[in-house]
Amino acid sequence: MSDAEILVAKAQGYAKSAKKMEDTGNTERAISLYREGARAYLDAAKRTHDRRKREERLDFAQMLYLRAEALSPHKTREYEETEEKTLPAPMEKPNITFDAVAGLEDVKEEIRQAIIYPLKHPEIFEIYKVKAGGGILLYGPPGCGKTFIAKATAGEVSASFYHVKLGEILSKWFGESEERISGVFEAARDSQPSIVFFDEIDAIGTKRTAEDPVIGRVVNALLTEMDGIESIRGEKILILGATNQPWALDPALRRSGRFSRILLVPPPDLSTRKKLFEIYMRGRLLGDVDLSKLAERTEGYSASDIADICEIAAKIPLKEAINGGTPRKIAMNDFESAIDGKGSSIIPWFSLAKREIEKSGEADVFRPLLEIAEKYGGK
Ligand SMILES: Nc1ncnc2c1ncn2[C@@H]1O[C@H](COP(=O)(O)OP(=O)(O)OP(=O)(O)O)[C@@H](O)[C@H]1O
Ligand SMILES: [Mg+2]
Repeated sequence: MSDAEILVAKAQGYAKSAKKMEDTGNTERAISLYREGARAYLDAAKRTHDRRKREERLDFAQMLYLRAEALSPHKTREYEETEEKTLPAPMEKPNITFDAVAGLEDVKEEIRQAIIYPLKHPEIFEIYKVKAGGGILLYGPPGCGKTFIAKATAGEVSASFYHVKLGEILSKWFGESEERISGVFEAARDSQPSIVFFDEIDAIGTKRTAEDPVIGRVVNALLTEMDGIESIRGEKILILGATNQPWALDPALRRSGRFSRILLVPPPDLSTRKKLFEIYMRGRLLGDVDLSKLAERTEGYSASDIADICEIAAKIPLKEAINGGTPRKIAMNDFESAIDGKGSSIIPWFSLAKREIEKSGEADVFRPLLEIAEKYGGK
């Protein structure tokens, strides 16, 4: 059973128990079970690639949520009071900079132009009347550095960083998600310069916003806030977004002044993979290992796959030593067996991406992805 199916089964369980509680007059318990059920359906929807199924699961989530609302006498207040304090403000001050990000030179350069230079040298942009800003949307396969480079961007300019996981907002704050979004922008205004990063933005991205009142309101809140920044001069708030399902995104979010630039964060190339091996093996007991060879052998693997490979390889001599073997350094063989045992997590993504993008009729927007898809198995 897939993760999504497990969540659906869980959601159905909640819904059933909720109904039973409702029928026996235990309203309070019924409300909380309906909400649990709605959250489980939402989480399932997030993990569902099939659009029709995804929509169906979102509908169920909404039904359960509305049922809880209908039963609840002081719904929103109660919800707010019990949970608000448990969700900390998402502000961070990342301490990594671009130096920590291996490769991705083109992506770094675009971010420098659109975000870093305008923040550091507003006067230059004033003189040349270059219109800076507009959000940047990062897209690409999982585990290749979207979230990582967003954090490093904030580190580069010492900006406050608001890491907003939309999936989390939707599942925790279903029904009042748009207030949460406005709250984030308000906090970002109070702590400029700031970067608001909408991670996993596909959680609101289904192109069904017109039919789904909650998601529709969230998209509208986001658009209004983004447009608001553009019109108020001198505000140092920049917007980044990231998704690994760009085809599911509402195109309204890409219109000018919002996410005007969309950038592919590609899988690591040969020299980047070598750097990643260097980064992950730093400070470890490494034997005679040819990192260039490892880089050659890992085409089609993501940065986080490579991190896993290093972790697995390092554990082999460790396990031996724990079991009474002689301690030894990590050897080429250890890496070989780690690589053999680990499938690439991006090859299946490329096949899916290629199919979905061709279906969506937006091949032009995602051209850079289609150009490399074949190389990574996207037939
Ligand atoms: N270019 C890179 N240089 C150094 N480390 C990297 C790089 N890219 C990714 N990593 C490492 O891999 C981990 C996973 O990357 P990250 O979380 O940024 O992936 P992502 O693209 O956001 O994936 P998802 O789509 O699943 O959210 C990071 O925490 C980081 O440690
Ligand atoms: Mg990420």
